[in-house]
Amino acid sequence: GLPGAVSIYDVGARDGLQNEQAVVPVEVKAEFLDRLAGTGLRTLEATSFVHPKWVPQLADAADLLARLTRAPGVDYPVLVPNERGLDRALESGVAHVAVFASATETFAQRNLNRSLDEQFAMFDAVVTRAVGEGLRVRGYVSMCFGDPWEGAVDPAQVAAVGRRLVDMGCDQLSLGDTIGTGTPGHVDAVLDACVAGGVPVDRIAVHFHDTYGQALANTLAALRRGVTTVDASAGGLGGCPYAESATGNLATEDLVWMLDGLGIAHGVDLDALVATSAWMAGQLGRPSPSRVVRALAG
Ligand code: HMG
Ligand code: MG
Repeated sequence: GLPGAVSIYDVGARDGLQNEQAVVPVEVKAEFLDRLAGTGLRTLEATSFVHPKWVPQLADAADLLARLTRAPGVDYPVLVPNERGLDRALESGVAHVAVFASATETFAQRNLNRSLDEQFAMFDAVVTRAVGEGLRVRGYVSMCFGDPWEGAVDPAQVAAVGRRLVDMGCDQLSLGDTIGTGTPGHVDAVLDACVAGGVPVDRIAVHFHDTYGQALANTLAALRRGVTTVDASAGGLGGCPYAESATGNLATEDLVWMLDGLGIAHGVDLDALVATSAWMAGQLGRPSPSRVVRALAG
């Protein structure tokens, strides 16, 4: 069966804007988030407190959070890799952070400058402190469906990394298809491995990049397995600068169109969302990659 309702976790302001060539002005980012909050989206990943040299596009994280109108009922999680990042996030008054692990050795080195094993020590310190401060903590796992350097990734390895994050204290686990190569049968295999490995399905979110056009089909497969939190990016923006061939995330508009067709509740005003993404595309100077935005923006 399918769920009656889905929680959309929008990553447009973070995953979307971290990969832009040009640095988007901080006031445009703040307006983007304020507009997204007005569409009914209730979770907006706002930015990252990573090393500013590693992701210069998000070096304005503290400034952005200070400018934001924090809408009532809207959650604004941020990425935090280490204790320095957590310090910065706490100074900005955040209530929800996300650590981001890799399922593969190569991507751990490239994205975090740590080995696969070393990443856990870094995150353990963050998660323990964040939970102690009363924050919510999400754990991402990247390269769950394939790695551009290592090729196939064993679902058991994904499950082992995910289980460690949950055991550390992460309340939600987001499984990332960072390079978008996964297909629906593969989604079943990864979810089976995670559940068999001890991660309850109601803790699992899915995070599909749409590089190969599979994101919506993969999302439907995950919904059929009982997943009810779906990551998507307004307008289909997105990509990781340290992952070869990562392009835009599943577009939130494309997701909303499918959920509407299936009669699954989501709380988002599609017209307002399309208008926001069309405005953002204008700011970025190129059309949105979302099919639904193109069809409806006119
Ligand atoms: P490092 O160079 O190993 O850092 O980078 P370090 O721990 O050796 O520290 C070196 C210096 O950096 C120190 O300063 C630290 O204080 C400073 P010094 O003492 O030399 O003056 N520093 C910081 N400054 C500000 N904020 C910080 C911070 N940390 C250290 N947070 C590090 C290690 C993890 C920091 C680096 O590799 C990094 O920032 N990586 C982030 C990469 C990234 O953001 N990638 C994109 C997000 S992941 C993604 O997009 C995938 C996802 O969407 C899911 C999917 O699609 O699969 C989530
Ligand atoms: Mg991503």
